[in-house]
Amino acid sequence: MAEILKPVDELTPDEAAAELARLAKEIAAADIAYHQNDAPEITDAEYDALRIRNAEVERSFPDLVRADSPTGSVGAPPAEGFAKVRHAVPMLSLAKAYAEQDVVDFIQRGHRFFERDKDLDIAFTAEPKIDGLSASLRYENGVFVQGATRGNGTVGEDITANLRTIADIPHRLKGSGWPEVIEIRGEVYMTYAEFEALKERSVAAGGQDYVNPRNTAAGSLRQKDPAVTASRNLKFFAYAWGYTTEDPAPTQYESVQKFAEWGFGVNPLMVRARTVEELIAQYHLIEEKRSSLGYDIDGVVYKVDQLELQRRWGFISGEPRWAIAHKFPAEQAMTTVRRIDIQVGRTGTLAPVARLDPVTVGGVTVENVTLHNEDYIKGLDSNGQPIRDGKDIRIGDTVLIQRAGDVIPQIVDVVIEKRPADAESYAFPHTCPVCGSPATREVNEKTGKEDSRRRCTGELICAAQAVERLRHFVSRGAMDIEGMGAENIELFFNAGLIETAADIFTLKDKRERAQQALAERREEQARQREAASGKERKNARSVDQRNFEGLDKLFAAIDARREPELDRFVFALGIRHVGDTTAALLARTFSTVEEFIRVGKETAAADDPHSVFPSINGIGDTVIGALRDFFGNERNDRVLDALLGQVTPKPYVVTVSADSAVAGKTVVFTGSLEKMTRSEAKAMAERLGAKVAGSVSAKTDLVVAGPGAGSKLKTAAELGIEVIDEDAWFERVGRAS
Ligand code: IVH
Repeated sequence: MAEILKPVDELTPDEAAAELARLAKEIAAADIAYHQNDAPEITDAEYDALRIRNAEVERSFPDLVRADSPTGSVGAPPAEGFAKVRHAVPMLSLAKAYAEQDVVDFIQRGHRFFERDKDLDIAFTAEPKIDGLSASLRYENGVFVQGATRGNGTVGEDITANLRTIADIPHRLKGSGWPEVIEIRGEVYMTYAEFEALKERSVAAGGQDYVNPRNTAAGSLRQKDPAVTASRNLKFFAYAWGYTTEDPAPTQYESVQKFAEWGFGVNPLMVRARTVEELIAQYHLIEEKRSSLGYDIDGVVYKVDQLELQRRWGFISGEPRWAIAHKFPAEQAMTTVRRIDIQVGRTGTLAPVARLDPVTVGGVTVENVTLHNEDYIKGLDSNGQPIRDGKDIRIGDTVLIQRAGDVIPQIVDVVIEKRPADAESYAFPHTCPVCGSPATREVNEKTGKEDSRRRCTGELICAAQAVERLRHFVSRGAMDIEGMGAENIELFFNAGLIETAADIFTLKDKRERAQQALAERREEQARQREAASGKERKNARSVDQRNFEGLDKLFAAIDARREPELDRFVFALGIRHVGDTTAALLARTFSTVEEFIRVGKETAAADDPHSVFPSINGIGDTVIGALRDFFGNERNDRVLDALLGQVTPKPYVVTVSADSAVAGKTVVFTGSLEKMTRSEAKAMAERLGAKVAGSVSAKTDLVVAGPGAGSKLKTAAELGIEVIDEDAWFERVGRAS
């Protein structure tokens, strides 16, 4: 291995060909030693060096790439941080078809290949091509032992713990008849609903920006903490397999049905077909359903159904000959950027939006597209890497919009040739367009990285933030004031009737003016309708009557929420980074609003916040920093005082049940819990009257162990203490506890 290699650009074609042959042989030998003989002859680093050199030579001499090239398919090299996993059978990519003729050719190639078998009845399957991340899941004797990303097709990353959190991936195969060893392959994806919910939670907590479900699913899979992955509710469809000791079934179709029996999510739109016409019909059917599926797909995959025929037809340059991906046409269109507007959110984030000449993309009219942040407009992603080949976006630019199945349209390219001569690069404002306060980019204390978004520092003096805060305050997850929707908040705010949350509770003292504001709005709406329809209005009086009734209802709904639950109240305050889960943790920890405020203020005043703020599992420096900012701000003090003059949050009571199966017992949780977070587990046990200990001793009554539990299990066994898994825990205490 220590030989000195010639730089690739000095190789002659003959030398390159010889080297590719040598590398192919050495890599194949290493693969056999590793996988089949279980006796690696070279180190992983040496193996990687061979593959890297091979890829470099191939890149410089693309004409010399061998049919048996070990490169397989392209893809990202495995990142640092997760252990590497070499797939026992490489994860391949698929040949692509863009036109129906490509599908006809594919089927004809098949029939030609099997020409000698005149009566051969070749069947095919057709199924959606899921736009997610492929993963390989190894099962030994029916037990999920390792899960990996695709990586470069040969080496991926070990993300077992994260994959275990996905409900569509069984920890143990159900049913029977599974091979001794099988690598199940399929796609991890995120539904639109989950993506939107996550974005909403993130916005509420002033967190990061999520671009699309696929990227978000990818990020969710690469989390260091599986609890974060678990909270993302990812999904999985099984559609293929890699190494296996036995075929799952004689056909592709039946194999996938087996996967469903074994407990995997499988796609319901897979069909079996025999002719091109049938396959194309299924393609169009799936295309029609595309917008209502609730997740991204980008085409339809056709596969030869009989596994025996798949084997006979084989592979070519890293792709199966027996399968093809029929892609949907990209939903793209050209339009012009007319304006760039800056919207200010509740947490003060300046969000740029491009206003476009309306254009139809994939059947939907697009007029606005988010530009995410300052760097995005400049042509850089959050890591400072170029996007759109580094082209920036300017007012007047002709841009290519894409909705590649994505919920959100995006600008994927800028036509520089069409850029007006006087178009200037966009100067992102450094002051808030609503209140004029400076807008800054914060530096994350931990990472030292600048936040990608600029934020208005005006907090409560900024009308945009005030309205958004009020909207958040009354929203369903927060104070949940019925009838006080976003529209009413805006109306009363603009009429000068409410400025901060406390004013909502005194609104009924301004009944006359509130009624007038509502009446004016109705007038205005009626006028607009009239203008649109050309008809005259009747019943002007009954409109006023309705306003009175509506207001009484609204005031009753406001009064009904004067004693909110503490966790809702804390969440409703709209403190940055305090989402509903964190709010619940805070409420549980401090029990009363007085205690919460006392600790908050002391934390804000202390030099070292940790000397005051208790250590709470699930609450880190970001939240503590946000609490310091909130309680260190006098304006918030005044707002909070006024609010507490109107509402009395209920103390957070932990009801301890004396008659549960674990009441009075000492419980230890160990290993990585998958169905609940550590703090949830602790709170649940305590609610049920149990004591939770951190280590196993003679006093321990019960150990609840998740995967990866270590020495505590050993101690428990030595002491003869009962050990159960999470499922058994839930069986014992009941799901709803
Ligand atoms: S079959 C040997 N089926 O597409 C064939 N792949 O370009 C293995 N994909 O990396 C793949 N949906 O991530 C297959 N129903 C489906 C698929 C699918 C999505 C992805 C997969 C693969 C890529 C191939």
